[in-house]
Amino acid sequence: MPKTIFIAGGAGYVGSKLVQFALVKKYNVICYDNLVYGKKSIKKFSGNKNFVFIKGDVRDKNKLKKLFSEYRIDYVVNLASIVGDKQCQTIPKTAYEVNFNGNKCLAQISKSNKVKKYIFASTCSNYGIVNPNEYANENSKLFPVSLYAESKVDSEKYLLNQKTKDLQFVILRFATAYGLSNRTRFDLTINSFTYEAFKFKKLHIFAKETWRPFIHVDDMCYMILKSLLIKNKTNLVLNAGYTKNNFSKKAIVEKIKKNIKNCKIEYVDAIIDRRDYRVNCDKISKYLKIKQSKSIEDGIKEILVNIKKKIIKENEIKQNLLDQNCKRLQLFYKR
Ligand SMILES: NC(=O)c1ccc[n+]([C@@H]2O[C@H](COP(=O)([O-])OP(=O)(O)OC[C@H]3O[C@@H](n4cnc5c(N)ncnc54)[C@H](O)[C@@H]3O)[C@@H](O)[C@H]2O)c1
Repeated sequence: MPKTIFIAGGAGYVGSKLVQFALVKKYNVICYDNLVYGKKSIKKFSGNKNFVFIKGDVRDKNKLKKLFSEYRIDYVVNLASIVGDKQCQTIPKTAYEVNFNGNKCLAQISKSNKVKKYIFASTCSNYGIVNPNEYANENSKLFPVSLYAESKVDSEKYLLNQKTKDLQFVILRFATAYGLSNRTRFDLTINSFTYEAFKFKKLHIFAKETWRPFIHVDDMCYMILKSLLIKNKTNLVLNAGYTKNNFSKKAIVEKIKKNIKNCKIEYVDAIIDRRDYRVNCDKISKYLKIKQSKSIEDGIKEILVNIKKKIIKENEIKQNLLDQNCKRLQLFYKR
């Protein structure tokens, strides 16, 4: 019998791609989302008999309880979140409630409804600032420097403290994503640098020597789907990326420059974002045995082709830039 995956936040950047890949793998998919950014990203799945969309909030205990009693759900993937430092700062109280309380609520309901695996999308931002000579591994000290990361660190702690016999919590600390999705975010480093370099032929780069690990959004989805098949039953924390995919902002700019000629780069000394970390992802490659499917260059190229051919329209890009995302969040949660 096909298994059923409940994807909270399934209309988002990662979620809408995960829905697509899970349907290809013949899972039944229940996509649960309150549609902060609209429904366009999941429109194309509406005719699929294995796809159900339910509009709802991850903090809504009663609605979730009812749903979990109606459907037999095997796996839960929690992607529902207010994502990003600035986004969380825009609506701090709500952000913590959604990210922490929402996750707690979904985890409790999963626990009492015989769910087998619960995948939680956490972030490598939890490491905050790491000594330049070191790569953080899953045992390294967490040093959240934003409310966003704090809400994820607290959520991880909550999940890891749960004593469960049949339900396994898998915490994936994702690297920063890039690449195309059904709701492509242009507030992410690689996607936004590529757009700005193409559109304005100019980039202002702050703190060029700060490092991050990166991962293509497709690979995030492959990791989530593969995590559902992990055999052992103990709770797990995995850095979700590729060790070879840690780069400084300057190195990312160099890669973009190779694809966009005559782009003027201005490096600015000011530090707006204190995060600076390199992450070791060897544990996940041992567990899941997946190879990287798309490099950073592939990501830059696919974004460029879609912009140039106007497959992604200018107004769609603008709606998904950082400031617009924050405005949309503010408007949505004020209602
Ligand atoms: N994209 C990245 O670079 C990245 C990196 C590390 C971790 N993550 C994590 O992956 C997950 C998905 O991120 P994303 O990039 O797809 O972000 P996104 O903002 O595109 O997706 C989040 C989704 O959650 C939904 N949502 C927000 N509040 C909700 C609520 N109260 N109830 C139900 N749904 C709600 C939104 O409508 C949206 O569809 C998040 O948990 C994020 O923290 C993402």
